Amino acid sequence: MTADTTAATPGRSADAFVGRLFEAGLGMFEVMSVYLGDRLGLYRALHTGGPATAADLAARAGIDERYAREWLEQQAVADIVDVDDVRLAPEARSYRLPEAYVEPLLNPDSPYSIAPLGRSIVACAKVLPQLLEAYRTGGGVAWSAFGPDMIEAQGDFNRPWLTGSFGTDLLPAIPDIHRRLTTEPPARVADVGCGVGWAAISMALAYPDIRIDGFDLDPSSIELAREHAARAGVADRVSFDTRDVAEADAGAYDVVVVIEAIHDMTQPVGVLASIRRLLRPDGLALIADERTEDTFTAPGSASERFYYAFSVFTCLPAAMTERPTAALGTVLRADAMHRLASEAGFARIDRLDEPALDMLRFYRLTA
Ligand SMILES: C[S@@+](CC[C@H](N)C(=O)[O-])C[C@H]1O[C@@H](n2cnc3c(N)ncnc32)[C@H](O)[C@@H]1O
Repeated sequence: MTADTTAATPGRSADAFVGRLFEAGLGMFEVMSVYLGDRLGLYRALHTGGPATAADLAARAGIDERYAREWLEQQAVADIVDVDDVRLAPEARSYRLPEAYVEPLLNPDSPYSIAPLGRSIVACAKVLPQLLEAYRTGGGVAWSAFGPDMIEAQGDFNRPWLTGSFGTDLLPAIPDIHRRLTTEPPARVADVGCGVGWAAISMALAYPDIRIDGFDLDPSSIELAREHAARAGVADRVSFDTRDVAEADAGAYDVVVVIEAIHDMTQPVGVLASIRRLLRPDGLALIADERTEDTFTAPGSASERFYYAFSVFTCLPAAMTERPTAALGTVLRADAMHRLASEAGFARIDRLDEPALDMLRFYRLTA
């Protein structure tokens, strides 16, 4: 007889499980309804124009009135918007966006910003047929296949802390990097896997003398990064290129940052070795990647569930598009990061538990 090693979770029942999945499914639908409001500009129209009937909203946002009515009723039933009087005829009811939900739905720089969640879930749903095929064949789904919804969502997930505190609080809390960014001659910085550019832009705004080069393999991310830099007024000191980091100038950089991208790389050791080559002899690399538990734990925390959700739908499939691939997946634990950086030749790897973010951890690598 073999020992039963299944850890019984107290209170497990089919009833509770079905209830949990039903709530989750309802949540998915409601998050997708937020996607409609986000992408069609319905929340913005409700907020800027004030309380609206279905006809008002349809006219303001340029959508069909019947759809506007159904969406407004659904939003009110889901307690996302307020309705003035449920007893009125459907066409006469007026709806408003509660003040408390303006920041989460309409301010992409707010720490409460939640609209990117809808875009990322919808982007995953769009590639499901390719994903099924990839799971069967061992193939991949390219990052670019997830489209603008995912690329913008990824940028907007990190945007609040990058534009809010990266340059002004987090970097100053890492003394040797801050020192290099504030001393003469002005530092040259590379942002590898820069995505839509918020880290580079935030650094350029916080450190007015430095120059930054952002590299990413995805052309549509680079296009958006250039637009964002121009709008932030830093395009004269920040350049963005669709370029492999291996082609960048060796020994030219004082600081290299890589924000939430190492786990996506098919050749992380090769990229880290290239980063080491880019650095001057006294240069430093700052890596941010998921703030995982130290070991696999199941059931896991909400953060680990979120990382794994991204991994099964996005990060692993994107990394499976090439061969050979490290196929790391989203859950890159600290010991694995240490191993990759040592294989790339870094002399010292420090896991920084301070400064800390809710979902990301910093590592400082010394060439
Ligand atoms: C999860 S996104 C992070 C983007 C950005 N740093 C941010 O925080 O929003 C990962 C990025 O890494 C890029 N990437 C993957 N492999 C790369 C490589 N070998 N060189 C440069 N960029 C790469 C992808 O194109 C993608 O834009």
